Amino acid sequence: MTETVVTPEPVKAPLKASGAFFVEKVTYVEHWTDELFTLRTTRDPALRFASGQFVMLGLMAEGKPLVRAYSIVSAYYADELEFYSIKVQDGPLTSRLQHVKVGDEVLVGRKPTGTLVLDGLRPGKNLYLLGTGTGLAPFLSLARDPETYERYEKVIVTHTVRHAADLSYRRYLEHDLPNDPDLGEIVAPKLIYYPSVTREPFVHQGRITDLIQSGQLFRDIGLPSFDKTRDRVMLCGGPSVLADLKKLLLERGYEEGSVASPGDFVLERAFVET
Ligand SMILES: Cc1cc2nc3c(=O)[nH]c(=O)nc-3n(C[C@H](O)[C@H](O)[C@H](O)COP(=O)(O)OP(=O)(O)OC[C@H]3O[C@@H](n4cnc5c(N)ncnc54)[C@H](O)[C@@H]3O)c2cc1C
Ligand SMILES: NC(=O)c1ccc[n+]([C@@H]2O[C@H](COP(=O)([O-])OP(=O)(O)OC[C@H]3O[C@@H](n4cnc5c(N)ncnc54)[C@H](OP(=O)(O)O)[C@@H]3O)[C@@H](O)[C@H]2O)c1
Repeated sequence: MTETVVTPEPVKAPLKASGAFFVEKVTYVEHWTDELFTLRTTRDPALRFASGQFVMLGLMAEGKPLVRAYSIVSAYYADELEFYSIKVQDGPLTSRLQHVKVGDEVLVGRKPTGTLVLDGLRPGKNLYLLGTGTGLAPFLSLARDPETYERYEKVIVTHTVRHAADLSYRRYLEHDLPNDPDLGEIVAPKLIYYPSVTREPFVHQGRITDLIQSGQLFRDIGLPSFDKTRDRVMLCGGPSVLADLKKLLLERGYEEGSVASPGDFVLERAFVET
């Protein structure tokens, strides 16, 4: 990851395209909370990616690219790119990125990559996409991909956050996507969205690890508990939730996969602890 420590002041000078990056224009910004926002940018037609992959995103700062890994939220076929971001108040990138406005320029890496792709998994019946915090991002791209629904009978997207206000894409997953004029017919019968909240009362309360261990998740959605002969899993979240979920799956005989060697589950960190 290229890193430059900078003072958090907005950059307004026009950017010059550099070899590793496309220069894109911001087309839309939505602030969900003081700590979470979404931005959309133009998309160079040469940028190709698989649903679930991430790419470097950032800004020019003091003449150098300041970029971080970002999961792509938009579908692989979308005209624009969408990203779902944390605001870390003293974070080198997001202390600035949170201030971008429509028309500003950002850098988008030319080489998307990542493990949260359909080809990393063996065939199965149900696909569980378990996201915490901004770890929901890659699953939004997968949830918009018709191929996901061709491969699986049920697609279960879980999103666990501290507070209900952090469930940024709740309306999209509960209402807009299942009613989408193009995708709704294939999505609605198969997509199950399961939000849960850990630090205040909510219809589904608790950590995803506990909801799996207690069987509450499966009772709530009306499906049987994890079985590696049937259920495939993708994980995206902070380091500690990933470690705990991975342990839980390994205890059930699950094998980690990759595109080179597909398995029963794949995982990717939603951020790295410094
Ligand atoms: C593969 C991968 C994909 C990623 N995808 C996304 C994404 O889609 N959206 C996104 O917001 N971030 C994502 N990140 C994190 C992102 O790369 C940056 O860390 C984030 O943008 C903050 O950058 P920063 O320079 O402001 O702070 P950094 O110096 O990068 O981070 C400072 C600290 O903030 C915390 N932190 C950073 N990112 C997050 C986060 N997303 N959620 C909670 N705490 C965090 C961590 O404790 C970290 O040590 C991803 C990281 C990886 C490795
Ligand atoms: N509203 C907020 O307070 C808020 C929102 C977003 C980001 N942030 C900031 O961003 C940073 C990271 O926050 P985040 O909420 O994105 O990530 P996070 O701390 O990883 O929490 C996201 C969700 O994952 C759960 N979780 C954490 N560790 C787990 C584990 N080992 N097993 C199972 N579940 C686990 C959390 O439950 P628990 O609540 O039980 O820990 C929470 O519901 C923090 O520094 C925070 O200050 C805060």
